Amino acid sequence: MKIITTVLEMQTEMREKKKSLKSIGFVPTMGFLHEGHIRLLRKARAETDIVVLSIFVNPLQFGPNEDLDKYPRDFDRDKEIALREEVDYLFFPSNTEMYPKSSSVKVVVQERTEVLCGKSRPGHFDGVATVLTKLFNIVLPDSVYMGMKDAQQVAVVDGLISDFHFPITLVPVDTVREEDGLAKSSRNVNLSPSERSEATVLFESLNMAGSLINRGERSPKVIVSEIEKLILSKSRGKIDYIEVLSYPELKQIEILEGKIIIALAVKFEHARLIDNIVLNTH
Ligand code: PAJ
Repeated sequence: MKIITTVLEMQTEMREKKKSLKSIGFVPTMGFLHEGHIRLLRKARAETDIVVLSIFVNPLQFGPNEDLDKYPRDFDRDKEIALREEVDYLFFPSNTEMYPKSSSVKVVVQERTEVLCGKSRPGHFDGVATVLTKLFNIVLPDSVYMGMKDAQQVAVVDGLISDFHFPITLVPVDTVREEDGLAKSSRNVNLSPSERSEATVLFESLNMAGSLINRGERSPKVIVSEIEKLILSKSRGKIDYIEVLSYPELKQIEILEGKIIIALAVKFEHARLIDNIVLNTH
């Protein structure tokens, strides 16, 4: 595995690989790797010739009151995981390498951001789209592997790739969970032990909503209020949002129909957790 920290070296290496017609699979991350990231790496390993992992905690996608400073980091551990998962290139740039001067251009996401995390994290998806545009131009991937845990991010990147004509295939990967159902997240380490046990209510409430829908419930309002009741009864977390929308368009709906997403975000003292399920309703 080669560890690369400069843009120029990464681009030079990738251009060389492209000449020999190798396919490049890319897994962008902010590090502190867990099973969720590993699932993406394994899928990329199985499907492409060259696997590139990037680790960069992107300041542009964090709001002023968000957890940029608290974001967990452990490069040595990440490096071991990357080696074990047979990553070919680990791109690990510094902030100044990625943002050497004040930016003259940024990417603004105009659709699919007025809801869910976009609403409570203004500018977040502009930061994600901007850094991914840069990373796509540095890594030159054929396919990019992203987790459905961040379903809105997948929807936004789907728009970015098609609007900007990136010759890249987006591969969405199912959410990986702990045994008790909590979605794996780098932020889970910031939960206190009691918050950690309360946090299982996120997935429990999504499953409960899934069963309501299976039994015929079709009102988004009812679904939202049942989820809210369950979360409030089982945790001290503050509900940021609970939404039921069409997927991947992320439009408000009056009646559940077709492919939908039920998504929620709950704020605990030192971690804001998100989760979702995507379902086909008839
Ligand atoms: P990060 O939170 O490190 O996540 C990197 C990738 O791992 C994302 O595609 C995310 O959806 C996926 N992932 C995280 N937890 C997962 C889980 N439990 N199951 C499956 N996949 C999971 O998302 C980002 O970084 C950044 O926004 C980034 C895309 C790197 C841009 O800065």
